[in-house]
Amino acid sequence: MKTMNIILMGYGRVGQAFVRLVQEKQEDCREKYNLRLHLMAVFNSRGGLFLAQDDKDRNLLADFEPGSNPEKSVFWRPDLALAEALKSFDAGVWVDCTPSNLKDGEPGLGYMRRALDAGWHVVTANKGPLVVDFGGLWKKARIKRLSLGMSGAAAAALPTLDVALKALAGAEILGFEGILNGTTNYILTRMGKGMGYGEALREAQQKGIAEPNPSQDVDGWDTAAKILIITNAIFHTGYTLADVRVEGISHVRPGLFLEARKTGRKIKLIGRFIQRPRGPLLETRIAQLDSSHPLFGVDGARKGVTFFTDSMDSVTVTGGKSDLRGAAAALLKDIINISEGQI
Ligand SMILES: NC(=O)c1ccc[n+]([C@@H]2O[C@H](COP(=O)([O-])OP(=O)(O)OC[C@H]3O[C@@H](n4cnc5c(N)ncnc54)[C@H](OP(=O)(O)O)[C@@H]3O)[C@@H](O)[C@H]2O)c1
Repeated sequence: MKTMNIILMGYGRVGQAFVRLVQEKQEDCREKYNLRLHLMAVFNSRGGLFLAQDDKDRNLLADFEPGSNPEKSVFWRPDLALAEALKSFDAGVWVDCTPSNLKDGEPGLGYMRRALDAGWHVVTANKGPLVVDFGGLWKKARIKRLSLGMSGAAAAALPTLDVALKALAGAEILGFEGILNGTTNYILTRMGKGMGYGEALREAQQKGIAEPNPSQDVDGWDTAAKILIITNAIFHTGYTLADVRVEGISHVRPGLFLEARKTGRKIKLIGRFIQRPRGPLLETRIAQLDSSHPLFGVDGARKGVTFFTDSMDSVTVTGGKSDLRGAAAALLKDIINISEGQI
């Protein structure tokens, strides 16, 4: 049986969902993948849960109740530093669930570099480090023959990179476009039914779909970050957010929805990468889709992506749960695929 040691950085909404899911799925992982998941340390911003040398054979998955206050646990160490955790155990996978900071990538970026330097694979839900230094992190991982699992940061439960890098292997990807943000798609879907922007946003917040501060979503930055990560991962490019033309949804006038309805169209926030004669274009933009468009039926908090290829035509994937459990599942998927040598 293979063992994968896990250090989890960030024990907020996604981090807790991840621990819950791994607890639920650990027996499945043993049976189906011959894989033992061994949670050794869990950090928040004030310290961490940590299995000391004497407790190394224990597993936080068994000894810690998700949702309970980690700081009340016997394993809590307020002075715990990442460097100590990284060197205390055989290298496994370091999981990043810290906040996405698209400006300088911190705190995740510094941690991520340290984890790779120490020989740990990385799996991340955090877009920030990948947006700020995709090339540097990719190179570091390649040199050390480590994996960088990015599904959690690239539309999570909607398979984007798996499709592009595995299912479309051998085909040239000419471009792609997607509805990659469940929050904005939910709001636009409700507006398409006649609701105002403010009311649709409030409803999304009440349902836990939109965050209390929704600006990263509604201003288009979350979609921009995702197309950037997907583009850089597929084409090995080094684009940054400055290369993306970004449009959000908060300015869309209600009249546009009326016009769209009359002509049987829908208003969507599309993120896309296309090749043009004068060079590639990365953008997020408000688009009117007619019923022949493959993403026309992607409504509510659902997501979807279409890849355009030279030899497999266009390939569209839709769905994938747009919630915390879906995000946690994307992290677990990457860990399993790393253990199988597939990332
Ligand atoms: N929400 C989703 O559906 C979703 C989906 C895909 C990806 N993501 C991404 O997943 C990540 C986590 O999201 P979330 O909603 O779980 O965020 P969250 O609830 O704000 O949790 C963030 C966690 O990171 C910890 N943290 C903050 N600064 C830290 C530092 N310097 N060192 C160590 N830990 C630190 C926080 O500690 P404290 O508890 O001490 O504050 C908290 O435990 C984000 O990057 C987000 O973009 C979210």
